[in-house]
Amino acid sequence: MSTPSLLILPGDGIGPEVMAEVRKIIDWMGANRGLAFEVSEDLVGGAAYDAHGTPLHDDTMAKAQEVDAVLLGAVGGPKYDALDFSVKPERGLLRLRKEMDLYANLRPAQCFDALADFSSLKKDVVAGLDIMIVRELTSGVYFGEPRGIHTEGNERVGINTQRYTESEIDRVARSAFELARKRDGKVCSMEKANVMESGILWREVVQEVRDKDYPDIELSHMYADAGAMQLTRWPKQFDVIVTDNLFGDLLSDLAAMLTGSLGMLPSASLGAPMENGRPKALYEPVHGSAPDIAGQGKANPIACILSFAMALRYSFDQGEEATRLEQAVEAVLADGLRTADLLGEEGATPVSTSEMGDAIVAKLAASA
Ligand code: IPM
Ligand code: MG
Repeated sequence: MSTPSLLILPGDGIGPEVMAEVRKIIDWMGANRGLAFEVSEDLVGGAAYDAHGTPLHDDTMAKAQEVDAVLLGAVGGPKYDALDFSVKPERGLLRLRKEMDLYANLRPAQCFDALADFSSLKKDVVAGLDIMIVRELTSGVYFGEPRGIHTEGNERVGINTQRYTESEIDRVARSAFELARKRDGKVCSMEKANVMESGILWREVVQEVRDKDYPDIELSHMYADAGAMQLTRWPKQFDVIVTDNLFGDLLSDLAAMLTGSLGMLPSASLGAPMENGRPKALYEPVHGSAPDIAGQGKANPIACILSFAMALRYSFDQGEEATRLEQAVEAVLADGLRTADLLGEEGATPVSTSEMGDAIVAKLAASA
């Protein structure tokens, strides 16, 4: 088999710093575990705009379509706030998602034992929490037409359209059911069928797919607002949550913060299988570019490192190596190592971004 290829797009803000730590892991695995990747690196977001006047160059887009997986850091920053909407850093990320057709966005919200005290909720509500949000990523109000701002009479009107086709709902529902089969076999679908026709269709299609092909899955439906409430009340009632693009954006931030560790959470965005059987895939941390702390060694590289672990599992069939890496992360946390976002406990050892990366590599080496 040819060497698997990986395109790295560090992006903006803390993106390059956290990605440098992933590079250490990749290099270590190449040297010590016989896991070689053909790694290339390119620009996205504000960094691409600075170099090319566009948040994603066509050549980069073409490369992303060819590789086995893309690993992205983060995009955006105040420097780009005044830019025209069409060239904002976020447009680069949205173009990647759309053109690669990455319709299933997997966002695990997992509470690490060592960090349960960081949650704003009581410890017993979050300890051991492990849920997976499957967010539809290529349709809905993010991409629906018509959209735009125009003038009617003497005032401006802003328009976005929530639109879902049956097949778009069908395929993301299948992703959620497949995942649930490998977990606790439970899916909760969230929409607003009480006020939106697209929500009515969503509910119907998800139920039909379940009844036809996944009778073993326990499926429930919830209005997304009630879902938000239940997520904060007793999150452990959920296993897999499947929802649309916008609700998924909101609910995944909410779920991430429940765990107390936004700087820890990875994500995978998966599309249809390519010729080699691997899904089109992009992996990225859930957190943003955090421009306020960029360049100071304060960023937590764990979300990006765990995103690479997801790549090992979902793109490269290296589930065991992924688990080893995840265990190395848990081990450094259990040792009390904390980046700036996680300080506050007594007895914790403050570490910089790069010290955290080094410690994880050392744990890997010790476990090998
Ligand atoms: C996310 C982010 C993006 C989104 C932004 C950066 C475009 O919030 O990945 O959740 O809204 O999808
Ligand atoms: Mg978001």
